[in-house]
Amino acid sequence: MSVSLVLGLQWGDEGKGKVVDLFANDHEYIVRFNGGNNAGHTVVKGSEEFKLHLLPSGVFYPEKIKVIGNGVVVDPEVLISEITAAEKRGYSMKNLLISSNAHLIFPWHKIMDGGLDKSEKIGTTKKGIGPAYSDKASRTFAIRMSDLLLPENELKEKIKFIAAYKKKLFNALEFPDFDTEEIITKTKEHAKKLAPYICDTQFLLNHAVDEGKFIMLEGANGILLDIDHGTFPYVTSSSVTAGGACTGSGIPPTKIKRIIGIVKAYTTRVGSGPFPTELTDEMGEKLRKAGHEFGTTTGRPRRCGWLDLVLLKYTCMINGVTEIALTKLDVLTGLNELSVCTSYMIDGKSVSEFPVLPQKLEKVKPVYEILPGWKDDISGCRKIENLPKNAMKYVKYVEKHLGVKIKLVSVGPKRDETIII
Ligand code: GDP
Ligand code: IMO
Ligand code: MG
Repeated sequence: MSVSLVLGLQWGDEGKGKVVDLFANDHEYIVRFNGGNNAGHTVVKGSEEFKLHLLPSGVFYPEKIKVIGNGVVVDPEVLISEITAAEKRGYSMKNLLISSNAHLIFPWHKIMDGGLDKSEKIGTTKKGIGPAYSDKASRTFAIRMSDLLLPENELKEKIKFIAAYKKKLFNALEFPDFDTEEIITKTKEHAKKLAPYICDTQFLLNHAVDEGKFIMLEGANGILLDIDHGTFPYVTSSSVTAGGACTGSGIPPTKIKRIIGIVKAYTTRVGSGPFPTELTDEMGEKLRKAGHEFGTTTGRPRRCGWLDLVLLKYTCMINGVTEIALTKLDVLTGLNELSVCTSYMIDGKSVSEFPVLPQKLEKVKPVYEILPGWKDDISGCRKIENLPKNAMKYVKYVEKHLGVKIKLVSVGPKRDETIII
């Protein structure tokens, strides 16, 4: 078995892009399977950086096959601009493939997203993600990649039918209007540009599995944003989990060998929703500054807090994580002491299992263990034994409490700023 899976175990932005780019060298296929351009994955090679929203994080490797799986929702305009930008920088996208079953984001999805989340109850990215997945689930008004291959007239009629319904709905809701003719013209252009990439990727991937090819599945968002197992309703609308990797790619669960959970050495969250270890004081500000914690997609400041082992035990469990990559350990350098949340108190009772009920989660008081900090710069460390004693203690502490081996420690955004254990 030759399929590996990379997942973020918190609320996103754990450093999935960096880890996928690092491992991409040993894989022939890099596959996105969920989310859309709500994701922002940063990959760095030397002085070059990409902030990717839809393209898989194998962009620095033109020879690798990059797949956008059926579980992804694709804003064609964003995808085309990413392809163009990568090619302009000399990275060929001729090995990109898009699943014919992936759904499209249309302008009406973005209007709907903005209108429904106007008061920032959820704090979505406003990219149309939720409404596009809603249309996928309700079927009648959905458009898939395979529809872009229809004769022009059929595609046009399909768009007109959906647009007419959306207009009635938007009129009643007093949402902004859109120009159907403009959408038809643009979609025809998108279809021409994207048609060469569209195919039945589930067959291609399973043939590759049978041939023993190395495949890396790249998760977007974070497990606590999962539509089923996240902190609902403050979540995204896709299946972010290991289960979602199978439905979103067509690769069966029995074929996945490694499940690599990415854990940021502290916790961050963008958007609304409960966050037990959030620091709203100077320390939170310090972490945000040291970790450059601003959204890759929206630029919003990320909420910052201490590491939370209660939620990590839960996300390790839901995904059957086989190894952990601990990222951004360097950001904690210079702090006198570090707090790590080991359990919660709810109504005076100690709780060690992550409460999935939002009403309960809102009420938890984190219980911390205090660990000593370290002062020496660790960004130059390439071997685990070269870490300062207290940094090593932190790594071992996390490993012991989660019961999962930490196989990689990241000490900076660059590829080589990595300790492989
Ligand atoms: P993703 O969504 O999980 O791919 O993560 P993002 O790219 O949104 O955010 C992670 C940010 O941290 C990016 O700016 C990365 O370049 C950066 N980064 C990744 N790993 C490390 C690390 O170990 N140390 C530091 N200081 N930055 C890192
Ligand atoms: P990556 O892949 C961080 C959050 C949004 C919002 C909620 C719902 O870079 O880790 P949506 O637009 O998906 O309906 O927004 O989910 N969110 C993310 N937060 N990183 C992401 O992706 C995210 N994708 C969605 O901020 O709270
Ligand atoms: Mg991100």
